[in-house]
Parts: sequence; structure tokens; C-alpha cells
Amino acid sequence: MKKDLLAIADLTREEIYLILDTAEAMREIGLRPIKKVPTLRGKTIVNLFFEPSTRTRTSFEIAEKRLSADTLNIAVATSSVLKGETLVDTAMNIEAMAPDMIVLRHASSGACHLLARICKSRIINAGDGMHEHPTQALLDAFTIREHKKRIEGLKVAIVGDLLHSRVLRSNVQLLTRLGADVCLSGPPTMVPAGIERCGVRVLTSVDEAVVGADVIMMLRIQQERMQGAFFPSLREYFTVFGMTAERVRRAKPDVIIMHPGPMNRGVEIASDVADGPYSVILEQVANGVAVRMAVLYLLAGAPEMD
Ligand code: CP
Repeated sequence: MKKDLLAIADLTREEIYLILDTAEAMREIGLRPIKKVPTLRGKTIVNLFFEPSTRTRTSFEIAEKRLSADTLNIAVATSSVLKGETLVDTAMNIEAMAPDMIVLRHASSGACHLLARICKSRIINAGDGMHEHPTQALLDAFTIREHKKRIEGLKVAIVGDLLHSRVLRSNVQLLTRLGADVCLSGPPTMVPAGIERCGVRVLTSVDEAVVGADVIMMLRIQQERMQGAFFPSLREYFTVFGMTAERVRRAKPDVIIMHPGPMNRGVEIASDVADGPYSVILEQVANGVAVRMAVLYLLAGAPEMD
């Protein structure tokens, strides 16, 4: 593995499968009465989050603790960032205390690349602006493989706010690399220019996009990244692009419904779909711990495990 995990392009196909296979072993640790191994004892990991997070921050912290790393969380609200300190100064001050890894979430695309250039610590991208969220795509692939036993040849429909989604960009990279047939659907105002060049199809009609799908992955409307109106109203968005039970019936009978969270219920997904029998949304959250344990373990050089 490279020093840092900043984007899916940092991983070879073999490394992706190594992470997924290692996550299988890590999941077993979470089933033990004492959910802890000494593997990363003596390693210090800083979780540096400049944007809100529930799933990613919590699952990284649980993963670090299960591997016995010394872990600490820095949130913007309690840091000197509020006094005007820059990202680089913040990172250099943390670096001066010699952590082994920094897990970074930041609103600016490429923030993690900047830190990777100036820090000796290994940098893990926990979401950078609209760019990438590689560990989310890895846990999504893990969840798909768990249910379908393969990724190659599956039809994956990804629906929603494509433009602002770092989850989309990481998943397109990863799923096409592993041989999935990826079809995107969303409002034309929210389709990234040239995305077809990444080996995916784009359909405006959700009803067409989900026909015969093995996997439907819904994406959140990211109002916090929008300047201006991309669609007339949330009600109209749900009517045209929302995932309803009726639309799910157009997919394969054993389709799985995914969403990275947080969900806007009644906007991109109906509650009966989010909570229904095809939903694996909470399994994605659970798998996030095992996948992040695998990433931390492999980036640390795969030390001996008990
Ligand atoms: N999927 C995801 O990144 O969720 P959080 O923003 O809660 O971390």
C-alpha cells in the first residue's frame, strides 16, 4: 500500500480485494465478547474533522479503539481553527506531536492531498469536499460482495445528487474497476460534466435506470453545497427522482438498497424503502467499522494480529 489513502486511484485492484478480505477477518473481532486486539498498540491516530460526521468519525474511532491505537478527536468547534488558524498550521502543529496517522475530513477537495505532501504521518481521506470518500466506497463494495458474492457483472444504479457527491466519485472509480455495470440517474443539472468518460452510463429517467438492477444506491441531496436552485422543489424532486417501493419493483427481485447516510427521508428515499426488506443501509454502517479497521491495519504495515 502507498503511504496514504487519499482516493480509490491510490489502490490497485489487488489492494482493494486485500482490504475487503482483511475486513472479513476484522469483522470477527467485533463479534468477540472482548472486542479488542493489541495490533496497533503504541500507534497514535488523530481524527481531524472540519465537517460534521456521524458514521465516518464514529466508525474510525471504534475501529482505532478495537485495534488498541491511542486515538483522539479534534473537532473544529473546539480547536484553534475558530481563532483563524489555517489547515496547514493546524496540521503542522498536530504533526509536531508525532502521530502515526491523521484521518481528515475537510470541505475542500484536495485538502488531504495537501496534508499528505507536508506530513510524515499517514493521511486517510475521510471525505474531501466533492472529490472522494474512499473508505465509504470500500465499505459499500464490502456490503455488495457480502450479499451478491461478487461485484463483476452486477448492475448498480446510483441515483440522486451526482454533482456534489464524493461518495459517487469514489464508487464510480471502485465499482467500474471491479467490473460492475454502473448506471447513473439524477437531474440533468446535477450530472457532473464528462462523467461518462469514467465508464458509466447516464439516464435521466430513474424508472429506466433501475430496471434489472442488482443494487440501487441512493445519494443524498447536499443542500449545504448548493448555491442556487438545481430543481424546482423537494416535493417535485421526490416525485421525479425519489426511490419509492413502486420503483424498487422494477429492479431484480433480490435487489439491495443502499444509502451512505445521512438520509433525507421523503426527498431522495421513501421511509418504507429505507426501512424495508431490501434495505442494507444499517449493514453499511456496521461494515464501516470492519473496513476501516482493515485500512488502518494495512496502512500500519499489517503488524501481527492476535
Ligand atoms: N456516510 C458518511 O460519510 O456519513 P457521515 O457524514 O455521518 O460520516
